[in-house]
Amino acid sequence: MNFAVIGSGGREHALCYKLKQSPKIGNIICIPGNAGTKKIVENIKEDILNFGGIYKIVKKKNIDIVIIGPEQPLVNGLSDYLIERNIRVFGPDKFASQLEGSKSFMKNLCKKNNIPTADFAVFYNFKDASNFIEKNSIPIVVKADGLASGKGVTICYSKKDALKNTKEILEGKFKSSKKVVLEEFLDGEELSYFAVVDENGYRFFGSAQDHKRVGEKDTGPNTGGMGSYSPAPLFTKELEKKIEKKIIEPTLQAMKDLDHPYKGFLYAGLMIKKGEPYLIEYNIRMGDPECQVLMMRLKSDLLEIVDCATKNKTNKLKIEWAEKSSITIVLCANGYPSSYIKNSEIKNLPDLKIDKNNQIFHAGTYEKNNKIYSIGGRVLSITASSKNLKDARQVCFNIIKKINWKDGFFRKDIGWRIIGNK
Ligand code: AMP
Ligand code: GLY
Repeated sequence: MNFAVIGSGGREHALCYKLKQSPKIGNIICIPGNAGTKKIVENIKEDILNFGGIYKIVKKKNIDIVIIGPEQPLVNGLSDYLIERNIRVFGPDKFASQLEGSKSFMKNLCKKNNIPTADFAVFYNFKDASNFIEKNSIPIVVKADGLASGKGVTICYSKKDALKNTKEILEGKFKSSKKVVLEEFLDGEELSYFAVVDENGYRFFGSAQDHKRVGEKDTGPNTGGMGSYSPAPLFTKELEKKIEKKIIEPTLQAMKDLDHPYKGFLYAGLMIKKGEPYLIEYNIRMGDPECQVLMMRLKSDLLEIVDCATKNKTNKLKIEWAEKSSITIVLCANGYPSSYIKNSEIKNLPDLKIDKNNQIFHAGTYEKNNKIYSIGGRVLSITASSKNLKDARQVCFNIIKKINWKDGFFRKDIGWRIIGNK
């Protein structure tokens, strides 16, 4: 079978890496891909929001299934566009993509279906929003309604800060958002839960813990994710049952009732408070960098899983995971998540030899004249597996030490809540 993977991050590199291990795989193309995917599959340059261009490539390359990695093309309706043209796609339609694309859509769906989440209110103008902020206690969480590349959420510890962030959002700081969501602050431990979903059922697809803040000990501004590990020790069988019964199943039923059954990877960002799960956000795709650690632990054939799911046979799947811990540390370009350095050569990367149990997944890289350069904020995901998390993290450190790149930085404390600092 031939696959197309849409996107150019570490997540897409990890998906290509795993698909490639399948005995049934034919050709894989990555649109547009990065220097890492170029080494293992065929990269084809195209704007991921140019649906017509993508369709042409998919037809020309006889692609059987398209996996859409990032949220923006899903929110814009790439699934609908390809499905209307008889292409098999793994990813939700435009309507269902509102679960990530509109926080107010997601929150209202929770409210209507008694899905546990933080109390909230949605505002369209500053006057009403500021009245609400004045009446409520702090901390208060201020969220842009639409997509904001992980930067639309601020936890405000003063009313002044809450008013400032609210004003910025309503004045159009994020083009995608004309509304602001104000939310109760939930104090607890975060957990990411993943599922593979089709019209008839779903399967748990791993747990992970992300590190969203740029600085050590979870300080500084939010990023797309600085590192993650899997499995999450917080995740027990009992918690799994609660998450599925109280959050996942009512959501999937609600989407069916709205005549847009959910299909694709579903990622629930949760806060666990006194043993109870609360939904913080839905993502309509795999996480990045969570995908990197999950693909290292996945024993089952990813091709089979996606093939089955696109035929609405997820219920037949038995998904197996290696009994080991995986961790990924993201190497970023200096300056990230603000403006960062670009086009900086990562000198010895093409020659670096590492054990096959570990991987360097590329994100913001490109290749020119056999040399590799950085182009994005998150540049490489150094990923390792071992019997325990501490050993796996040490392997990542050893790999990073070997990489000759003067313009990058990384968090040395990924996993700090359970294994401490280095
Ligand atoms: P989101 O984009 O909604 O996942 O928010 C980004 C991050 O902000 C989350 O991963 C949490 O760390 C934090 N966050 C969001 N909403 C809340 C909340 N209601 N209470 C506490 N922390 C939150
Ligand atoms: N790592 C967070 C995300 O993929 O949204």
